[in-house]
Amino acid sequence: MEKFIRENLIKAESFHPFFEKALNEMLLAGGKRFRPKLLLAVVRAYNPLLLENAKYAAFAIELIHTYSLIHDDLPAMDNASLRRNHPTLHTTYDEETAILVGDALNTYAFEVLAKAPMHCDVKIELIKTLSEAAGPNGMVLGQAIDCYFENKKLNLDELKFLHINKTGKMIAASLKMGAIIVNKPDLAEKLYDFGLKLGLLFQVQDDLLDLLDSSETGKTTGVDENKNTFVTFLGKEGAMEKADRLAGEIKKELNGFNENLKKELGTLLEKYLYRHKN
Ligand code: IPE
Ligand code: IPE
Ligand code: MG
Ligand code: MG
Ligand code: MG
Repeated sequence: MEKFIRENLIKAESFHPFFEKALNEMLLAGGKRFRPKLLLAVVRAYNPLLLENAKYAAFAIELIHTYSLIHDDLPAMDNASLRRNHPTLHTTYDEETAILVGDALNTYAFEVLAKAPMHCDVKIELIKTLSEAAGPNGMVLGQAIDCYFENKKLNLDELKFLHINKTGKMIAASLKMGAIIVNKPDLAEKLYDFGLKLGLLFQVQDDLLDLLDSSETGKTTGVDENKNTFVTFLGKEGAMEKADRLAGEIKKELNGFNENLKKELGTLLEKYLYRHKN
């Protein structure tokens, strides 16, 4: 995936002194590539021959995710200066560059998907799934609630709704897109539900990361104090217990999958299910 990203960097030649560099900067800064890995794990389990072409879809997810981080870090949102161990774009350049790079990655994701070497029917399903997860009833809605309710307390159901939207749906969509590529519609629905739970766990763990030093996380921390997170709601211990409980449920559900999928996802998730304990 890393190689694929490097070979498919965004080209935007012009007389702008740094826009093309800025476009690719946060993509090149790294990150765990968790969502692409989820998609590729599903494809590897069912049809490894499709892996190369599936990387276009995995790249599209990473483009949307990276745009969401660039906008999330803006002064109007979380106002963070460090991301992926790298200064954020609005810090290096300016806010308009960060906004426009985010816009460009968002749009480019769908260009990549539309041009991917796959059957058109498959591509339409992928575009539908990714746009639903990222858009007004997915990540963007989650971010809107996250920002609006800063300094206003949500109840536990509302907090769960926030996390499922801002983080859960993109993770669920990544798994579902893998199943779409290998043409397994029933599995797609099952993996989507599994992914919502995995995404909730991922965000509870992320809430715990905010308590650490930015040297450990590679991103600005200590910014969640007035936000609705599982740590502000349940306290550190309560959030740890919630993460343990979710990880246990996910592990059990994983055992219900077929052998290949259990193996591929199991190997990947080993690193993540209990990352709150590392
Ligand atoms: C951070 O996502 C934002 C959330 C949705 C929790 P990641 O933890 O996957 O960030 P990267 O991609 O590894 O930088
Ligand atoms: C952001 O959640 C989720 C996105 C959709 C980008 P956070 O604001 O908690 O993510 P971090 O902690 O900055 O990575
Ligand atoms: Mg945020
Ligand atoms: Mg943030
Ligand atoms: Mg966070």
